[in-house]
Amino acid sequence: MTTSEQIFNTLVLPYLNHAARMYESGYASKTDIDLAMRFGCGYPQGPLTVVDGLGPAVVRDQLAARYAETGDALHRPAELLEKLADEGRSFADDGAADDAPPAEPRHEIGTVGVVGTGTMASGIAQVFAQAGYDVVFVGRSQEKLDGVTGYITKNLDKAVAKGKLAEADKEAVLGRLRGATGREALADVDIVVEAIAEDLAIKTELYKDLDRICKPGAILATTTSSLPITQLGDATSRPEAVVGMHFFNPAPVMKLVEVVTTAATAGEVDETVKALCAKVGKVAVSCGDRAGFIVNCLLFPYLNDAVKLHESGVDLATIDTAIKEQAGFPMGPFELLDVVGNDVSLAIEKELYTEFKEEGFAPAALLEQKVAAGELGRKTGRGFHDYS
Ligand code: CAA
Repeated sequence: MTTSEQIFNTLVLPYLNHAARMYESGYASKTDIDLAMRFGCGYPQGPLTVVDGLGPAVVRDQLAARYAETGDALHRPAELLEKLADEGRSFADDGAADDAPPAEPRHEIGTVGVVGTGTMASGIAQVFAQAGYDVVFVGRSQEKLDGVTGYITKNLDKAVAKGKLAEADKEAVLGRLRGATGREALADVDIVVEAIAEDLAIKTELYKDLDRICKPGAILATTTSSLPITQLGDATSRPEAVVGMHFFNPAPVMKLVEVVTTAATAGEVDETVKALCAKVGKVAVSCGDRAGFIVNCLLFPYLNDAVKLHESGVDLATIDTAIKEQAGFPMGPFELLDVVGNDVSLAIEKELYTEFKEEGFAPAALLEQKVAAGELGRKTGRGFHDYS
């Protein structure tokens, strides 16, 4: 019998360790790491705050015990965790406070373009229209454009039914949305947010075309979660205008946007995008152009470990329940994998494995099998759980 506490220790402690290493490496600030996991995944607290709450020495000792058992480098306590534990200090009192000052928009944003018609693109179009922006969204067919309007209408209808939105406001939001099947409709937008297929060749072709179509000064933002944004910028004559805006699923609900700058992204583009996030009610964190950014880099190894734990014989529901109860996460790992999609999760895990070359990041065999069997999650009616 595996207890909830054992499941917490197996899955959550390596995640905490990984967050400590991310901060130690200088990739992201303490504040941004904690904000990212709170607002990207709905966790009650960020990982560094959790470590401080449990006590760095307690976390260090438990990880050291696991490392002695498994020999897995990912369980060896982070050097900074060792140091804080030895000195009786916490993350809160390590280094200076690192909250970023509020960003000021440096470009005027009036009209927003969205490219794509999937769940993320639809949700992003809703976010901007609901915040009062005129939105031009581009898809490959009228049927796909109708799908976006249908998705947004359904969400707004739910809000009206709950008394959270007036019918007139719903009509106003829908009135700000204009669908188009030709990219030329993006000629006058101030920013394009792209959420098309996660394929470098397809995105590169789009960026070349956006560079041709969009007016000078327009910002070109990608929601990619794993492709090199630097390469997308290099496909254009304006790499300084290319930036990442990584939204989370479901986009109308999750408040985080990871703002990803490349070496070429202009400071004023970064500032404008962050200010825009604040205007639409989102929380922006700063990331460098590296696979996984903050959230996926911390989230997907944990989800992968959950699959491996299940492979070792612990049932799905026991793991999901333990995580919700012990860690307070809003969804168990298998519920979340089914929302994200096993195909998307596998692709992200492969990217992380390629980038970091950690043996522990190798995708679990069962995840590969689920994808091969077409059991992708909610979208196919069956993933780890059954939705038929
Ligand atoms: N679209 C729009 N709105 C939605 C929605 C959707 N798909 N799902 C839920 N909502 C809304 C509901 O209408 C409700 O709104 P109100 O509060 O205004 O009434 C609100 O969200 C809460 O919904 P529920 O009460 O039905 O459900 P809940 O309390 O269980 O919350 C949840 C749902 C917000 C999704 C919550 O379970 C959660 O936070 N889950 C974690 C999701 C997560 O980790 N996402 C990140 C995945 S990783 C990723 O996206 C990155 C990547 O690159 C793959």
